[in-house]
Parts: sequence; structure tokens; C-alpha cells
Amino acid sequence: TIKIVMDTDPGIDDAAALTMALNDPQIELKLITSVAGNVTVDKTTKNAQKIVRFFNKKVPVAAGAKQPLIKEFEDAARIHGESGMPGYEFPEDLPKPLDVSAVEALRETIMNSDEKITLVPTGSYTNIALLFSEYPEVKDHIERIVAMGGSLGKGNMTSAAEFNVFTDPDAAKIMYHAGIPITMVGLDITMKALLTPESLAKLETMNETGKMLHDIIIHDGDNSDQGIAMHDVNTIFYLLHPEAIKTEKMWIDIVTDGPAIGETVGDIRGAYHDGKTNANVCVDIDAQAFNEWFLEEVSKINK
Ligand code: BDR
Ligand code: CA
Repeated sequence: TIKIVMDTDPGIDDAAALTMALNDPQIELKLITSVAGNVTVDKTTKNAQKIVRFFNKKVPVAAGAKQPLIKEFEDAARIHGESGMPGYEFPEDLPKPLDVSAVEALRETIMNSDEKITLVPTGSYTNIALLFSEYPEVKDHIERIVAMGGSLGKGNMTSAAEFNVFTDPDAAKIMYHAGIPITMVGLDITMKALLTPESLAKLETMNETGKMLHDIIIHDGDNSDQGIAMHDVNTIFYLLHPEAIKTEKMWIDIVTDGPAIGETVGDIRGAYHDGKTNANVCVDIDAQAFNEWFLEEVSKINK
């Protein structure tokens, strides 16, 4: 099994990613930490707990950063709705979040694990940056980072920047320069692997999980006739099916101010860093395989 921790800001696609991670037998999800992003951290924490409660799982949730390291916080409620996860009535009797902060919980989980942990951030990287700054010793106990965010091409927030990196570019810079193997799961693939209208229709009648996902996904403000991007779910798909995704090693740097703030700049020609690389960048994906896998995962869930 792949032992992972998810740092997340649910968020419609985060909720779908959590659904896969909580239920796939090849993944052991040890901890969920929340961060401000799509909506405030109070809401993202609650939304993470709602998903855990929906599946009656025991995975702990720890609340994280309320705001980015330096930049002012701007949410994405225009895409994900005021609650961040609209359209479905979740149970109200939620488990309590941990008494400790996300950073403390991350440190404990990573240091106490018998095997190295894979970090899967699907929100902005504030908690991860704080963790690396406060407890640099954790870095040796992390297998790799598989992070949704960034783009070699256009952004989805500004023409240069993708939302997770745009929200906290200073944290992204720290994470990308931490010296840990990192896979950038960015818009280059997530905008290709759209969940098609046919897949969405199948979800609705599949089982209660499919209905829950369908009901929240149709509220995503970023849909088109071709389908809806399930950005964060691509991290889990990559963990389980790396053969369906093409990656390229390159140097990634982050723009932390000016009009291109939040841009992930890839040294695509290897021209500026003497062939040195710090990231494995996802550049292409088998969109049909993604859709088939998505439906299969949900169909196997016993709820
Ligand atoms: C990312 O931004 C958020 O709105 C999504 O949840 C995803 O993590 C896509 O740019
Ligand atoms: Ca997210």
C-alpha cells in the first residue's frame, strides 16, 4: 500500500480526491490536513470531516493555515460555492478535528510512520511550507510529494498562474526547493482529463457515493460542454496509474511577485540549470483511461 497524507481545501474536486484516497485498498490515508483555499479553513476542515463521516472512516482531520504565508487570502467560492461543497446533504454529526494544528499533526504522523510518507497536497502549500520551516527533520521521512498545482502553459486564475500556486506562491517556492522528489500535477493534464457529461450521468445512478459526487460536481462553476476538470483527483490517479500519465523532469521555479505572481516557470529546454531538475512534471494524460478509472473506483465503493 502507498501511505499518504492529504493536505486539502475541499472544494469539489478535493472531495472527489478524498473519496478515492479513503476507499482505494492500495492507498492508506493516514491523515487529512486542511488549508484555506477554495473557501475559508473553517469550511475546508468541516468539508473534509463531512467526507470522512460520509464513508464512516476513522482518518483524523487536523485544521491548518487560515491564510497564506505573505499574500492576502482570496477564496474561490465563485467556482466551489459559498460552502465549498454545495449540492448534497451530508450528515451533521461530524467527528471532532484533532486538538493539534495541521503542522503538529503532520510532524507526528510523518515522524512516527514506519515507512516513508507520500505527501499529497491538493490546496495551496501553506501548511507544507510551515512544516518544512519549523521541522526540517521531516524532510528525510517523506518519500515524495505529488502535488496538484501549477501549469507550464496558461493559468486558471490569471493568464500566468494556477489557483493553488497563485494563492500562496511563497509557500510553493519553499516546497519546490525543499529537495524532496516532487511531481507537479498541473493544468497541463488536469484540463485534458475532463470528466465527461457521459461519465457524470453514469455517476448519478451508480450508488450513493456516485450520487453524492454527481450532486456536488454539477455545482462546479468551471464546467464546459466537454466536461468538468477534476484537478485534484489526478494526484490519486497518478499514484495508482503512473503509466497513464507522461511526465518530464525539469527545473521548476515560482514567480512570487509582479504580474505573473504564482506562475510555475519550467525550464523546458534545460537551458538555465545545467540539466539539473527539481520536479517531475505531468505533461500528458490518457483522458479516457482517467474517466474509466474514475467510474470504476466509485462503482467498487460499498455505499
Ligand atoms: C485547483 O484549485 C482549486 O480550486 C481546486 O480544488 C484545485 O485544487 C485547480 O486549479
Ligand atoms: Ca483543491
